[in-house]
Amino acid sequence: MRRVPVDMLRPGMKVGKALYSSRGELLLNAGVILTARNIERLRRLKVPALYIDDGFLPDVVVEDVIAEETRVQAMVQVRELLEEQWEAKGPSCFRAGKAILRVKRLTETVESIIDQLLANRALMVNLADVRAIDDYTFGHCVNVCVLSLMTGITLGYGREGLLRLGLGAILHDLGKVDIPREILHKPGRLTAEEFAVVKRHPEEGYRRILRLPGVSAPSAQVVYQHHERYDGTGYPRGLQGQEVHEFAYICGVADVFDALTADRVYRRACPVHEAYEMVAGSGDSLFAFHVVRAFLENIAAYPVGTWVRLSSGETGVVVENRRGFSLYPRVRVFFDPEGNPVGPYEVCLWEAGDVVVAGVTDEGSVRAGLGYSQLP
Ligand SMILES: [Fe+2]
Repeated sequence: MRRVPVDMLRPGMKVGKALYSSRGELLLNAGVILTARNIERLRRLKVPALYIDDGFLPDVVVEDVIAEETRVQAMVQVRELLEEQWEAKGPSCFRAGKAILRVKRLTETVESIIDQLLANRALMVNLADVRAIDDYTFGHCVNVCVLSLMTGITLGYGREGLLRLGLGAILHDLGKVDIPREILHKPGRLTAEEFAVVKRHPEEGYRRILRLPGVSAPSAQVVYQHHERYDGTGYPRGLQGQEVHEFAYICGVADVFDALTADRVYRRACPVHEAYEMVAGSGDSLFAFHVVRAFLENIAAYPVGTWVRLSSGETGVVVENRRGFSLYPRVRVFFDPEGNPVGPYEVCLWEAGDVVVAGVTDEGSVRAGLGYSQLP
């Protein structure tokens, strides 16, 4: 199974991993054979890529760190909660009974995410983004929650701490419901005035989360401080260093990383290894160093299915990642340094001391290259 950009999908290809909308609707089930209409629909929905099962790397499974149904359930619950908040114009319209239920359900879902992450501790984040652009907000909330919790587990948090962190992280952008949608979804650059409006969302979110029943003070701090930065360049208060709650740094790193690796209206997704490098450089400048280090331990810089060129000149596909070796995957080599098909055979970079990933390439370039037409 591998991730294929929508532009390279062809009728007849088999869907390897089901695709859901943020409303929980099944858009395409695993095993479905693609038609031209399916592909056109994906293009309309601005889905960047799809996992395809074409018999290439049949033994390689791309595992998510949590179950698909939990991810979808979390996304639907966040959507419902945010949409209700959108409708609530002021305190008088606020329906406390409904909010209690929403928070209770969301708390149960975060608990389920924690259980799964604790049970799958060896797994790293290997999935590249396949979200439709319109679904960005809700998928982003869930991703930030999962990434924050993985960081919290690495830092040795107990259950109570994880639950508070997770609930704050999944609701971190609650205040965005107060930003006019024209500004929130504006494709171009924001004006200074518009950016000032966007920068109010941590405070608006804090105001809203304090009114939600059953949310603890540390969770509220995540909402309030997730844009504060270690060097004091963040907002809303320009706090720095240890003035910022550790939870907020955790959520901040997860937020930046997930935003970088997603396709947005105004720019294409940044490849995972580039986002990894950017985050790696942010320790003790944007975020606390130990938080960045714990975060990156969970991220595969070259996710399974990525085409890479090795320092030895060989070209192959990443087939496995090991925790603690984010930059050193196991690679199945298909081409020698001259571009001639070989083997395939595998090179394990976390064992081989002298070979590293020299660059990332994509399947289009591989197929277009000399001698590269003999791929399965
Ligand atoms: Fe935010």
